[in-house]
Amino acid sequence: MQIIEAEDVERVALEDIDVSRPELFRNDTWQPWFARLRREAPVHFCADSVNGPFWSVSSHKLIKEVDTSNRVFSSSSKLGGIAIVDPPAEEGQIQGESFITMDEPQHMPQRMAVAPTVAPKNLAQLEPLIRERAIDILEQLPVGETFNWVQEVSIELTARMLATLFDFPYEERRKLVYWSDLATAVPEVTGDDSIDMNKRYEELMGAAAAFYQLWMSKAGQPPTFDLISMLQHNEATARMNEDPEQFLGNLLLLIVGGNDTTRNSISGGVMALNRYPDEYQKLRENPGLIPNMVSEIIRWQTPVIHMRRTAMQDYELGGRKIREGDKVVMWYLSGNRDESVFGDADRLIIDRPNARAHVAFGFGVHRCMGNRLAELQLRVLWEEIMKRFEKVEVVGDIERLSNNFIRGIKDVPVRLHPV
Ligand code: HEM
Repeated sequence: MQIIEAEDVERVALEDIDVSRPELFRNDTWQPWFARLRREAPVHFCADSVNGPFWSVSSHKLIKEVDTSNRVFSSSSKLGGIAIVDPPAEEGQIQGESFITMDEPQHMPQRMAVAPTVAPKNLAQLEPLIRERAIDILEQLPVGETFNWVQEVSIELTARMLATLFDFPYEERRKLVYWSDLATAVPEVTGDDSIDMNKRYEELMGAAAAFYQLWMSKAGQPPTFDLISMLQHNEATARMNEDPEQFLGNLLLLIVGGNDTTRNSISGGVMALNRYPDEYQKLRENPGLIPNMVSEIIRWQTPVIHMRRTAMQDYELGGRKIREGDKVVMWYLSGNRDESVFGDADRLIIDRPNARAHVAFGFGVHRCMGNRLAELQLRVLWEEIMKRFEKVEVVGDIERLSNNFIRGIKDVPVRLHPV
């Protein structure tokens, strides 16, 4: 397919715009496309894409309308799930079903079973551990050398956190990262046709086997503070291991949920503060801004680019007629750049008064379950960074992921300037 450069945006016919092309996110050229959609067609129909026809919802207000209308717009995997790409349909293969791809009444009991792990009371207990791990990582960084922040900090911190949440063998924690990356690696999402889907499937079955083993090792034990134990001790999920679809799906959801997203917010924060040195200065002068900055970084980065729904009935949205069965994509990345809500929206402003109004965690019944945990990790990390480093300086080119679902960053070369 011909790659259209950003400056051509205004010349393309509205109906030919396809904002799902992964290269827009790899090259970071998505901004003018979404700006045009928000301006001219906040509910826009793309008749032809590798993912078939779909509606794009790009304004803050209409995204909230779709996300909170869960009786009209389904998340169910039976209708197409939560990503623009339809679930693969290989006969006999386990695809993994989780509560993020369920509607009511199935969704809520399962969500309630896992939610206490990341409730404020547990998070308060978790904070010292997160701090300890953050300090350990920061203290070992190679001062004076150029290194990839993504590998050494973003991935490492989130991998340690995941191993803790799952009570997964600590020394094997990078496997969790590998499985998470694999879970979102399908050609329609990444634009990479060379992905061996059979190998991917085998590896994911390896993940299921490892979790099954972990599950069995905890069966019959008294409850402990970790996700597997909580699932086992809750009526709604106690027999989850007997249903391979739900078992793999729910565990992958918790891994992907807690991994890519937080990781990319950590990397995005370093990039954004380097791009806007005035903001870095503000932060140095007033580290008390960190909690608000965390929300602003999540808005600016928007680690989950979109969520998809399927209309269960005809519905009029922003003056357009959505038909039953239509694919409707909420572009959170665009909602978070909506100038009618966020002035100078492309810019990071760490004391932005309404930073928390972002849609990066979604809205309604499926609103991110781990949002407080993600914020906690980011806050603690930045508090500890500011105690040690005058600046984390970006010294080379950023490499991004080719992916229309996860806004991912692969390489951020940095140098540290100790205080
Ligand atoms: C900055 C970090 C994060 C971002 C941006 C993020 C974003 C999202 C989004 C957009 C949704 C879907 C919302 C919707 O459909 O309305 C979601 C759901 C979810 N997230 Fe997160 N997430 C983050 C961190 C985490 C963490 C650390 C966990 C770990 C527990 C987590 C677990 C989940 C779960 C389990 C769901 C499904 C909730 C449901 O269906 O009821 N997320 N997240």
